[in-house]
Amino acid sequence: MTIHIGAEKGQIADTVLMPGDPYRAKWAAERFLTDPTCINETRGMLGFTGMWNGNRVTIQGSGMGMPSMSIYANELIRDFDVQTLIRVGSCGGMQPQVKVRDVILAMTASTVSTPSSTIFREFNYAPCADYGLLSAAAQAAQDRSVGVHVGGIYSSDTFYNERPDLNEQMTRHGILGVEMEAAELYTLAARYGRRALAVLTVSDHLQTGEALPAEDRERSFADMIEIALNAAFA
Ligand code: ADE
Repeated sequence: MTIHIGAEKGQIADTVLMPGDPYRAKWAAERFLTDPTCINETRGMLGFTGMWNGNRVTIQGSGMGMPSMSIYANELIRDFDVQTLIRVGSCGGMQPQVKVRDVILAMTASTVSTPSSTIFREFNYAPCADYGLLSAAAQAAQDRSVGVHVGGIYSSDTFYNERPDLNEQMTRHGILGVEMEAAELYTLAARYGRRALAVLTVSDHLQTGEALPAEDRERSFADMIEIALNAAFA
């Protein structure tokens, strides 16, 4: 057990999918895993371990934002020796060709800062995905009827943005979308020699103001989980 994860050693698989929302972890475990067991309820941040296609997998909520992701990813890596961590979540689109409901595979995750910025100081570290996972996810996504984009995203510290000028510069420099967790996950995975990827559904669009209709959310989330599971065990 750790401070934030009430599981025993051995109850968490080598591969962990991490949605921000703990209820999505529950939904995905019930829908995709056989014999899912709840392995964490501490602070309501639900986690489940079960089997997918003969492979053991854990689905553990990360919470919202990089400080929360940092807590769960640190404990999963350092205390439970997790090898593969895949964020599955939503993002806001930032390019005209990126449509609501499309999937973004985050090759890199730019930031203004992460919980790891204190160690980097003046160094602009470039957090990036594991290439094997990224290419396997791109392959898995191509087999589905969903638009797929591979490229850079922005991991923000705020959902309610006060810097439209910065967004404009990011769009100008090809950033595909904005979310709030991937950069810290990628940084921690690099630090400890683990594999990480973020698979993201475009839930809203910063330029058009469009949002994913409620009835499409479940289908989009299911697409992401399937892409992530296929990539993890490719
Ligand atoms: N996650 C989903 N949409 C987002 C947005 N617009 N900004 C930050 N994180 C998000």
